[in-house]
Amino acid sequence: MKRILVTGGAGYIGTHTCVELIKKGYEVVAVDNYVNSSEESIKRVEKITGKGVKIYNADVRNKSALDKIFTEQKIDWVIHFAGLKAVGESCAKPIEYYDNNLNGTLTLLQSMREHGCKKIVFSSSATVYGDPEELPLTEASKTGGTTNPYGTSKYFQEIMLSDVYKSDKEWTVVLLRYFNPVGAHESGLIGEDPKGIPNNLTPYIAKVAIGELKEIGVFGNDYPTPDGTGVRDYIHVTDLAKGHVAAIEKIEKSGIYTYNLGTGKGYSVLDVIKAFEKACGRKLAYVIKPRRAGDIAACYADAGKAKRELGWEAQLGIDDMCQSLWNWQSKNPGGYNK
Ligand code: NAD
Ligand code: UFG
Repeated sequence: MKRILVTGGAGYIGTHTCVELIKKGYEVVAVDNYVNSSEESIKRVEKITGKGVKIYNADVRNKSALDKIFTEQKIDWVIHFAGLKAVGESCAKPIEYYDNNLNGTLTLLQSMREHGCKKIVFSSSATVYGDPEELPLTEASKTGGTTNPYGTSKYFQEIMLSDVYKSDKEWTVVLLRYFNPVGAHESGLIGEDPKGIPNNLTPYIAKVAIGELKEIGVFGNDYPTPDGTGVRDYIHVTDLAKGHVAAIEKIEKSGIYTYNLGTGKGYSVLDVIKAFEKACGRKLAYVIKPRRAGDIAACYADAGKAKRELGWEAQLGIDDMCQSLWNWQSKNPGGYNK
């Protein structure tokens, strides 16, 4: 069976992907420096799957550490999640973000090439589309025009990876553009564990629901959307994880492949609050606040290409996303380590 190296394997999407890979019989090797995660999350993956996961504690910018992994393990594919991802923080710390995300990917590519592993799935983001000129977004929609260093780092990494394929046609490069990943594994054992006050909508709502935060701030109700609040394509993290498995199962020929991973449906902030109220069984307080700088009105995918070419399609809806997040949040009110 194929062996997959999952960088950032202890993180939110990484852990869910490890579970889905192991369920399909893949051998999983992970690498993480725990800058935004903990060892406990991988222990939970082992608990869910009943299988051990070999994890290396290393920074993907550390070439000799990566070389050691590729020497010790025969890796067939790399799924590259390792990176920093907070939009606001990236504006305050652009040097750290470009260093981590760009140098991490470059070092990984160097080590992969030296060890003859030329198959990579990369965590890209709908953020590469900037402020959309058309909706739904297809893979052919214009990219660039990103509004923060995090998004720009994703855009640059896509270009770097495309250039690698152009220079050497033995590479297989898969760019997966995630829309808004939310929710948690059905077991309630793994989920998103943001540090401090969450920046993203659903973890914030979950903290209000358990009483840790007072009320939800809705960032703007004057957008040109049906109820005036921002519209996004929320996708269950388990569906997203399965999209990675579909990519490595279906893609056999070398090449450069780009897919949107979304549901194709847009939900407003108020829709999400309502769905979460249903999941947790009570009303949640919210207040309308000014628009958040850098936000766009609406963003949702045309997810047809992944369905046609990978046979992958999201199965879970907004109620499943909110229920699973509530299950995780109520079972782990302080996250992994509390
Ligand atoms: P996460 O922070 O939970 O996971 C990333 C993991 O990478 C963490 O465990 C972190 O410790 C690790 N890491 C970071 N820098 C590292 C380094 N230099 N060396 C080794 N490990 C390192 O984030 P996530 O939500 O699971 O995101 C995974 C990937 O998906 C990221 O690349 C992110 O940018 C991308 N993405 C996420 C979203 C989202 O909304 N969650 C949307 C689009 C794309
Ligand atoms: N929002 C609120 N209140 C909050 C947080 C968010 O009203 O407390 C609103 C935002 O204005 C937006 C929607 O909820 O309309 C979603 O916001 P998120 O912060 O949850 O997500 P974004 O769409 O801004 O960005 C997320 C990730 C990015 C990624 C992008 C696309 O943070 O890294 O999805 O994948 F690039």
